[in-house]
Amino acid sequence: MFLAQRRLCSLDSRAKFLKTISSSKILGLPTSAKMSLKIINAKRIEGLDSNVWIEFTKLAADPSVVNLGQGLPDISPPIYVKEKLSEIAAIDSLNQYTRGFGHPSLVKALACLYEKFYQNQINPNKEILVTVGAYGSLFNAIQGLIDEGDEVIIIMPFYDCYEPMVRMAGATPVFIPLRSKPVDGKKWSSSDWTLDPQELASKFNSKTKAIILNTPHNPIGKVYTKEELQVIADLCIKYDTLCISDEVYEWLVYTGNKHLKIATFPGMWERTITIGSAGKTFSVTGWKLGWSIGPHHLIKHLQTVQQNTIYTCATPLQEALAQAFWIDIKRMDDPECYFNSLPKELEVKRDRMVHLLESLGLKPIVPDGGYFIIADVSLLGL
Ligand SMILES: Cc1ncc(COP(=O)(O)O)c(C=O)c1O
Repeated sequence: MFLAQRRLCSLDSRAKFLKTISSSKILGLPTSAKMSLKIINAKRIEGLDSNVWIEFTKLAADPSVVNLGQGLPDISPPIYVKEKLSEIAAIDSLNQYTRGFGHPSLVKALACLYEKFYQNQINPNKEILVTVGAYGSLFNAIQGLIDEGDEVIIIMPFYDCYEPMVRMAGATPVFIPLRSKPVDGKKWSSSDWTLDPQELASKFNSKTKAIILNTPHNPIGKVYTKEELQVIADLCIKYDTLCISDEVYEWLVYTGNKHLKIATFPGMWERTITIGSAGKTFSVTGWKLGWSIGPHHLIKHLQTVQQNTIYTCATPLQEALAQAFWIDIKRMDDPECYFNSLPKELEVKRDRMVHLLESLGLKPIVPDGGYFIIADVSLLGL
């Protein structure tokens, strides 16, 4: 009923707007030619119009090109995830708007799932925000917490949206590269790519508002170790800095590696936003659902951005995701549980791909997590 009323109000104001337009015509108010100087882009998006995926997609439209750029998971979503969505789509009430900060059953499922990793209770309504993909979480976190004049440390190479999002907030990105140690006679691994602790320390100062961390890392596949995360955590605490931790590949970690959450390090919960993605968790990238987890004093600012931008995410997708999570939460210790079987399946594919690239002489960087493999195709000499 409340929603219906809101609709009527907006129709009413539209009618008033139309009336205003027609009266302005009669009064001879500014013509479109005079207004054109005003119709320019907002400063905050200046220079941000180019985008690697848009360029790649245009180039890959040529049927003779194989698109190795933007990819899709080549593992199907679990059957129960798809079935849940079709069952839910048949329920009228679940096709309507839901709670803006996250559908109640989904935030409860997420709290229950992540409490196991944080070893702490998570308040589903205050410490979790469901967003339009991990992208939405990144946007809300950066808009809600970063200001003009702030500096944000970004580790290179990085997921492409970090830099424009920081710039759109009026802040300055400060870059630091992961550097590779020389590797002689052994496989080149993502763990050979590290941050130099001294170089990292030199990037922090009183203007540093946040560091954006991505583990497992896109595109190198690096899974940060406890020691590496501790260096970052110590600097965040020393300089009173936020950490935006993009952990969308948290389940895709291969044998011998463990995904660790920087938010669980002493002193880090209160300064960390941890970001996850349904797309990467259940191979449903088209659902565009993600979430941010963190203390209420940070999440509340992300909520403010969301309520004033997209307001809410798709209800049936959220309910289907919640029900899928409950299925896996109940069998987390079972090796057949999706979270446990997915990395095993992908590891077989990774090994096959590494072998193929090596047989072509391409020296791939063997990833410890995520689903990317970097290789220098120029070695093919094409
Ligand atoms: C590191 C990283 N962060 C965020 C995202 C965006 O995830 P989503 O599709 O959930 O918005 C991606 C997608 O590829 C990614 O690789």
